[in-house]
Order: sequence, then C-alpha cells, then structure tokens
Amino acid sequence: MYAIETIGLTRTYLRYNYKGTHVSMDRDDNPGGLLLSLYNRYFNRNVEKEEIVAVDDVNLKIPQGELVCLLGPNGSGKTTLLRVLATLLKPTRGTAYIMGHDILKEEDDIWRHATYIAGLLTGGAWMDARLTPRQILLIQAKLYGFPPERIDDALKLSELEDVADTRVATFSTGMLARLSAAIGLLRDSPVYLLDEPMSGISKEVTQELYTHMKENIVRKAKATILFATHNLIEAERYADRVILMHRGKVIAQGKPEELIMSIYKEQSIEFEVLNCPPDVVKSLEGLSGILKFVDLGKVDEETIRLVMYTEDPRKVLPKAISTIVEGSGEIKHVKVNKPTLEDIFIRVVREKLG
Ligand SMILES: Nc1ncnc2c1ncn2[C@@H]1O[C@H](COP(=O)(O)OP(=O)(O)OP(=O)(O)O)[C@@H](O)[C@H]1O
Ligand SMILES: [Mg+2]
Repeated sequence: MYAIETIGLTRTYLRYNYKGTHVSMDRDDNPGGLLLSLYNRYFNRNVEKEEIVAVDDVNLKIPQGELVCLLGPNGSGKTTLLRVLATLLKPTRGTAYIMGHDILKEEDDIWRHATYIAGLLTGGAWMDARLTPRQILLIQAKLYGFPPERIDDALKLSELEDVADTRVATFSTGMLARLSAAIGLLRDSPVYLLDEPMSGISKEVTQELYTHMKENIVRKAKATILFATHNLIEAERYADRVILMHRGKVIAQGKPEELIMSIYKEQSIEFEVLNCPPDVVKSLEGLSGILKFVDLGKVDEETIRLVMYTEDPRKVLPKAISTIVEGSGEIKHVKVNKPTLEDIFIRVVREKLG
C-alpha cells in the first residue's frame, strides 16, 4: 500500500477578473467609483471568469517511509495539492488515497492518518509558551486520545528529555522545532502534509529540523512526509524523493541524484593551467568524451582557464590531467562542477516555459 496515491487528481479554481472600474482606496476621494464597482461586482457586470487549473491530472505513487519534497515555482499548485490531500479542498476531478483511504469518501480516516501543517513548524500559534513540553504533549495526547505513555517516547526521540519540564518560553527556535517534531511523533500519524514549514527559520535550525524529521519521523516511526518547499539545497540533501511541479502538472520526479543525472547529463571540468603551450590546448579540445570545450582565456599573464563539458568526468579528468602534465603545463586549479537540483529546476522550468 502506498502512503499517498493520486489518480488523475485535478483541482480548478474560478478566478474573477473585475475590469473597467478603478476604485480609489480613499472613499471620500471617489465615492461614485466605489459604488459603481460594488454594483458591478454584485450584478457580475464587467466580470471575466477565468478557469485556473491549479492541480492538473496529477498521478503520484508515494511509498511509505519517505521524506518527499514538493518543489515548484510560485503558483505551481503545491499548496492546492496538499490542501486537497488534507481534505480541506475538494478535487474537481480524480481522487487520492492516503494509506488506502479515499479522500472523497473517508474524510475521518484521512484526518486520523494525515497531519496537515501549513506554515512554520515552530509555530508559536499552536503552542502556549507558559507550558512545558510535557504539558503540551499531554494536551495533545488527551485531545487525540493517545496513551500518555507515548509522551516519554516522543520526548526521548526528539531529545527533549532534559527540558521536558521547562517552560517553552525559554526555548530557542531549534528546541521549539524539536518540540514540533515531538508533537508529530506523539500523533504518530503515518502521513504528514507540510506546506513550507521552514520559511523564516535559520539555516542551522532548518538542518536540525530536517535531520529530526528524517531520523525520527521518517526512519524510526516509518512515516511519510510530503513537504512543499522552495529550499532546493536542503531538498537535494535530505529528500528521498523530489516531485517537481509546474503549472499544476508534475513535470519530473525521482531520487534527487537520479533526477539530476537523468536531466542534466553533462558536468563541467574547470582547469586553471600555468604556462600551457597552445598545442596542449588543442589536444585537450580533441580528447574523446568532451561535448563542449571553452577556452576562457587568460586569468593572468601566465595562466589560462579552460572548461570542458562531459558526461563522464571520471574518464575525461585523468586524460586531461596527463595531457597537460605531459605537455609541461602546470595545473594550478581543477574543479568538477556537478549539477545541482537548482540547475535541474531552472532548466526544466525554463524548457516548459519556452
Ligand atoms: N482561492 C483561489 N482562487 C483562485 N485561484 C487560486 C486560489 N488559490 C490558488 N489559486 C491559483 O492556483 C494556482 C496554484 O496556487 P497554489 O497556491 O496552489 O501554488 P503554490 O505552488 O503553493 O505557490 P507558492 O509557491 O507561491 O506557495 C495559482 O495560479 C493561484 O493563483
Ligand atoms: Mg503554496
């Protein structure tokens, strides 16, 4: 059974574009304009209805026990997808299953099996800072009917045992983040739907949170986290799988490194060479396995910079080095640039735009 499976999932919105009347914000300034605008809105005059397909025929199969990052530019449909999965919005077409339960027919089961959190994981809004972690977890346990014994486990797993009876008001952001993880562990939900939970959180705490989610919630509790984010570096580092959305469609998905290699096959090798004879540059250019060769010219009087693009740097690199050394050039600097998820993101989205 998949943690999350979507079948032809589609969600459209109707966007109303009000045209023709401009209303000043200052009522005294333009009372007539305001009245006209209200009149038009009320009677649907000068209104253009536009259908927006926010989630467009999405078919996903997400196995249990994975940290999955949902990536995509603004407006690509991430929030809509998560809200549909959380049963906060009805799909227009298609359906989805969470731990085998149909989002259309088994709403209660979805609530039991999926925890939806939008916004900061360290969100003070749902934590009373005067309480201690143990008290907060007790409230949660009572609310959701979990055995209180689980509180100790949740505190232990999230490394909060030492501060279990300290007021949350004294906690650093990282500790609050761990408390969020503890609440998640306590709820013991097999699926978490998180919408940009880390925006506004520092890099260190973000990393701490990712580590906690991955170690405690995903690896130990075997839960699945579907996680919308704009943070491509963290996604590349921690995600078991990434799903790339654009204009409502899933345009690429897979393990980060596999996805990168499948889309961005070439890597670049950059050399800075001291006293490089011209015939060495020619030989380098003619090496097999090189897709593109760029002579970037002089860095200083004696040094030149060369870049070669290849699908197989492991083969090209030793050959290039021996060519330079045997030709009595001196290598000052060499660097292999591996493509990142960010490169993929830019390339795929740009292609789709073009
Ligand atoms: N309530 C709504 N009414 C009309 N259109 C909407 C509504 N909510 C979202 N949309 C549109 O649906 C599309 C997808 O929006 P959504 O919020 O799901 O994207 P997102 O990927 O979460 O974006 P972001 O990265 O900015 O959070 C956008 O074009 C948006 O304008
Ligand atoms: Mg969003």
